[in-house]
Amino acid sequence: MNFELTEEHKMIQEAARDFAEQYLLPGIIERDTDKIFPTEQVKMMGELGFMGMMNDPKYGGGGMDTLSYVLVLEELSKIDASAGVICSVNNSLVCWGLDKYGSIKQKEKYLKPLVTGQKLGAFALSEPEAGSDATSQKTTAIEKEDHYVLNGTKNWITNGGTADYYLVIAQTHPELKHKGINVFIVEKGWEGFEIGPKEDKLGIRSSDTHSLIFNDVKVPKENRIAEDGFGFKFAMKTLSGGRIGIAAQALGIAQGAFERSLAYSKVRKSFGTEICNHQAIAFKLADMYAKIEGARLLVYKSALDKDQGKSYDLSSATAKLVASQVAMDVTIEAVQIHGGNGYVKEYHVERMMRDAKITQIYEGTSEIQKMVISRALIKNGV
Ligand code: CAA
Repeated sequence: MNFELTEEHKMIQEAARDFAEQYLLPGIIERDTDKIFPTEQVKMMGELGFMGMMNDPKYGGGGMDTLSYVLVLEELSKIDASAGVICSVNNSLVCWGLDKYGSIKQKEKYLKPLVTGQKLGAFALSEPEAGSDATSQKTTAIEKEDHYVLNGTKNWITNGGTADYYLVIAQTHPELKHKGINVFIVEKGWEGFEIGPKEDKLGIRSSDTHSLIFNDVKVPKENRIAEDGFGFKFAMKTLSGGRIGIAAQALGIAQGAFERSLAYSKVRKSFGTEICNHQAIAFKLADMYAKIEGARLLVYKSALDKDQGKSYDLSSATAKLVASQVAMDVTIEAVQIHGGNGYVKEYHVERMMRDAKITQIYEGTSEIQKMVISRALIKNGV
């Protein structure tokens, strides 16, 4: 067992850190306040190779391991959790699944521009009545000659308005329940495909979240991914990897809030001394550090499980459950350490506290992670 990052990992980490400090930090308060998507920054992330990190170089991907991806997400999210989720969804939920299960033709057409950042992807699973209960898909894709006809509504779709290509999960054979579900590549602009208004969210406000409405959208048969009925498994496998990304995002948010709190506590004075000299603050810092270190081990371990070809359903759910709780705990304490300043935007930690909350909700709530963890333990033991 070796806890040292390789030189290559350190270089990737440093590149992401430099990028985040130089290009994500400026304007972050305005983007958060006014819900402005970081268009230029996402383009640069594509140029830096951050949008298709784990993909086959044959299709323009970075050919990197999951740990490299985690390091990048952590650095982006330390400064800007919205950029973190935009990157995470494109990498984990769109490019990874397309690479692993898509046909050569689909990869040539759709994966190539997605991994280079020329195009952006979204993953459309959730519905008004199928968030946690993902098997209850109401969106239908009915087979007709050489195409499917797509009808239904998807909710809370990250990159919903800005994406060019959407992986849409829909029910083709309702009588087969989850075994009748498929996943389709749908392009923005196809007749009958409408995008709902942008959501006004508590956090990750500069990421772009919309509902999607499909009214008799014709999807060519060649745009179905993998064999008939593979859609639910596709979603579950993709989400397992996605959870490593969201755990890394949570870790980054926590680390960012901790670093700001430590620095602030060394300059802010009260009762005649810097506040870090008060045990009430020092102990908070110690607790925050210990929680983050614990979460980091789980997140990196899950990335390594994936890289070593082991099952990572259990470790990714565990990493996400713990890291998202740590992000919440640490950011609340960060606001407390900053006192009145913590409650205003200029000090950044209030945004981090708002951003942290979503990591306990998307890609499966904390309750869903507990379901995945307990089922795996009961089935397979420890
Ligand atoms: N890999 C492969 N197959 C899997 C699997 C996995 N990780 N997890 C489940 N399956 C399979 C099961 O083996 C089973 O297949 P068989 O019938 O062939 O045996 C099938 O899927 C159904 O499994 P379950 O009976 O366990 O299904 P369930 O309905 O009881 O529960 C669940 C499954 C884990 C709760 C699942 O519904 C789930 O993960 N829900 C949460 C969904 C979610 O994360 N939504 C987030 C939306 S995307 C998002 O948030 C993106 C964003 O904006 C950032």
